[in-house]
Amino acid sequence: MKAWIIDRFGGREELRFTDLPEPDIGEGEVLVRIRAVGVNPVDWKIREGMLKDLFPHEFPVVLGWDMAGVVEAVGYSARRFKPGDEVFAYARRPIIHNGTYAEMIALPESYVTHRPAGATWEASAAIPLAGLTAFQSVFDAGQLGSGQTVLILGASGGVGSFAVQFAKISGATVIGLAGKGNHGYLETLGVDAALDYTDPEFPEALERIIPGGVDLVFDCIGGASLEMGSRCGKSGGRLVSITDPEAGNLAESAGLGFHFVFVEPNVRQLDTICGYIHDGQLAPPETQVFDFTDAPAAHEQMETGHTRGKIVLSLSS
Ligand SMILES: NC(=O)c1ccc[n+]([C@@H]2O[C@H](COP(=O)([O-])OP(=O)(O)OC[C@H]3O[C@@H](n4cnc5c(N)ncnc54)[C@H](OP(=O)(O)O)[C@@H]3O)[C@@H](O)[C@H]2O)c1
Repeated sequence: MKAWIIDRFGGREELRFTDLPEPDIGEGEVLVRIRAVGVNPVDWKIREGMLKDLFPHEFPVVLGWDMAGVVEAVGYSARRFKPGDEVFAYARRPIIHNGTYAEMIALPESYVTHRPAGATWEASAAIPLAGLTAFQSVFDAGQLGSGQTVLILGASGGVGSFAVQFAKISGATVIGLAGKGNHGYLETLGVDAALDYTDPEFPEALERIIPGGVDLVFDCIGGASLEMGSRCGKSGGRLVSITDPEAGNLAESAGLGFHFVFVEPNVRQLDTICGYIHDGQLAPPETQVFDFTDAPAAHEQMETGHTRGKIVLSLSS
């Protein structure tokens, strides 16, 4: 099978398109023929070696944690799926080695669930990692509920696109922070108001919309936006960050509770997300599709930090 591997950490030039043996199916596993691969910022950060002390890895590394595809075969004792089933997964394994930038992957069936009916392969592959991150941040850590208010920093990115919609599903008033060029996109996602991160007075603008500050600040961006955004929470509110585990001090000085979320695989939550799509409450984010053979170009775009919605590699052609 074809796969993108790296033999060592480094720049995009380390990405190598090569032939690998098809994976063996272990006990309790399913073998999936991949049709689309979700690309996430963590992929290039792993490629660069920025996370090498956090995750055990074994070279050659096949990158990638998101995929949608068709079950080709099932291993001994695997009983939830049959060949031909259309599935998707957030496929983060304990050791970074056999990722989703490949034509096939073998995964424990507990990682896999049926993909959303009617969605394209590309839209399906865009969901797992970003969708679960937003779900676990907004609902689990953020405890957002009806009548509450939330400021989402980086609302036009992959995670933010889901977070805005989950926050609306919860019944909250949603303020999104993104560049001006993305404010029209935020409106399509359902924000009640959009703020511009290049405006040094965006906290004052927020104060005019929601006097006293928001119940929840959800940070998908870090840096100066996080520092300024943390001042937008109301005393006794919450700050949830997916970018900075050390942001507890910012939360404390603003009188906010703090959670850092690192996304976990969770097929029950993926099923709930499929239900939202089925009911018309959630639309998959805008997605930029690259051919599977163009992974370096997809990384180049992801590394800009200015991608609207998601990036996906397609194996469907
Ligand atoms: N902890 C976890 O489990 C976890 C999970 C997923 C992701 N992450 C991390 O969370 C971050 C976001 O991931 P993502 O996939 O959503 O990224 P992304 O899609 O690359 O986010 C890009 C978006 O952020 C906007 N943006 C850029 N600078 C901004 C700023 N200063 N303030 C507000 N918005 C800004 C961009 O809009 P403009 O074009 O308008 O600038 C763009 O639409 C990444 O660092 C990623 O590694 C962590």
